Amino acid sequence: MANTVTAPASPAQPQTELRATGTLEIKDSRTSKSYPVQILEGGVEGDTAVRAMDLRQIKTAPEEFGLMTYDPAFMNTASCKSAITFIDGDKGILRYRGFPIEQLAESATFLEVAWLLRNGELPTQQEYDGWVHDITYHTYVHENIKRFLEGFRYDAHPMAMLCSSVAALSSFYPEAKNIKDPAQRYISTIRLLAKMPTLAAFIYRHGKGLPFIYPDNDLGYIQNFLSMVARMSEPQYQANPVFVRALEVLFILHADHEQNCSTSAVRAVGSSEVDPFSALAAGVAALYGPLHGGANEAVLRMIEEIGHPKNVPGFIDSVKGGKGGQRLMGFGHRVYKSYDPRARIVKQLADEVFKQVGMDKDLEIALKLEEVALSDVYFVSRKLYPNVDFYTGLIYRSMAFPTDFFTVLFGVARTAGWLAQWEEMLNDKEQKIARPRQIYVGYGERDYESRLKEKFPKSGKDGRKK
Ligand code: CMC
Repeated sequence: MANTVTAPASPAQPQTELRATGTLEIKDSRTSKSYPVQILEGGVEGDTAVRAMDLRQIKTAPEEFGLMTYDPAFMNTASCKSAITFIDGDKGILRYRGFPIEQLAESATFLEVAWLLRNGELPTQQEYDGWVHDITYHTYVHENIKRFLEGFRYDAHPMAMLCSSVAALSSFYPEAKNIKDPAQRYISTIRLLAKMPTLAAFIYRHGKGLPFIYPDNDLGYIQNFLSMVARMSEPQYQANPVFVRALEVLFILHADHEQNCSTSAVRAVGSSEVDPFSALAAGVAALYGPLHGGANEAVLRMIEEIGHPKNVPGFIDSVKGGKGGQRLMGFGHRVYKSYDPRARIVKQLADEVFKQVGMDKDLEIALKLEEVALSDVYFVSRKLYPNVDFYTGLIYRSMAFPTDFFTVLFGVARTAGWLAQWEEMLNDKEQKIARPRQIYVGYGERDYESRLKEKFPKSGKDGRKK
């Protein structure tokens, strides 16, 4: 079949409007003036908010800037309306477009979920076939990308390579900057979903010093990825079906998670109207961090450091003592204040994978960590439960992925969510370039008086300082 793209899919669903549900009376003690501020309600769960801009009218003199909100790390600020992913952190609920994560993990495919996230509805057979076809026929990357990857040191971190190569793709598709054209947005979406597994697999092979394996368009999305990772001289790679199913489920679980750090990065960078390859490179960079996607790598390194279940109580004590700012990696979440529903599914999945490949040697340490933490008042009182990253590393390791590669797998999956959220942001008439305010706490005006004796150091002929 030819490498052409069918008509663009319908864009993401418009978000519902927020409705006024009451009034908040704010009295300013400085002026004794009262201000009525509208309380807005939205969504199926009736979330309420006030518009931060409504506070700007509150001031003591006309020339004043007006009241701002101060919210480091966006602990209590909704940056957008979104119809994509719903989380109830107290009840441990996660739904994509209304569908419970448990049902999607049980029965859907990753590409079906990627369509759902972007378009708002499950695909019809015809839509699905076209989507899968388009993605399958855009898996190849330009040969120069291969050479670009070869330029990295043998021990380069795979996430640094992924971040750079996604950014580099932007230079191969200059037309992607036409972000107002739905057809361009569609083809960029296809390219990113299609090429991420190729980049990931090439990065894996570079780290191993193995020749790159080109995509096999006769294979499904996950099978093809595993083929590019593991194929040697066989004419067609037959992936272990247990691994294929495990990756399919893990990709679905990681596909989106509303306004997390990397998605907020994609939205913020995308709001400058840059092309999606550049916006997603920002997402990959954010995901790399150990408090976000990098936690799956950090969990395994932590478990390896603990070394034996008998060392778990001592380790837990050191975490509670805050020694060296140590945290129990894979525990805690900004939104979930109960068991992360994804962690529950991952734990079951680990059992299935270990049945196939044998028990992971460190599972006992992980189980002991969970048991000790969940009965310890430090963790219970702070509502710290295992998150999605707690058990994923053990599964990835049992599939022979290197530890520093785990976050790349997360990134391949999250591409679906980043793209859906980027599209939604562009279609949201209320969105503008992201540009937070600050409270300036530095010096007042002062006069420049240089402290340097010599401003332009004299250089020798060879350019070196004398
Ligand atoms: N181990 C020990 N203590 C913790 C942990 C932890 N993993 N997480 C939070 N705390 C403590 C923290 O010290 C604080 O205690 P106190 O009130 O005495 O100062 C309290 O719990 C609240 O923590 P916080 O840092 O204010 O919470 P947050 O919402 O800002 O942070 C988090 C969320 C995920 C960054 C954090 O829980 C953490 O660092 N976890 C470990 C890293 C991790 O597993 N990240 C993956 C998150 S899920 C997947 C993803 O996002 O990619």
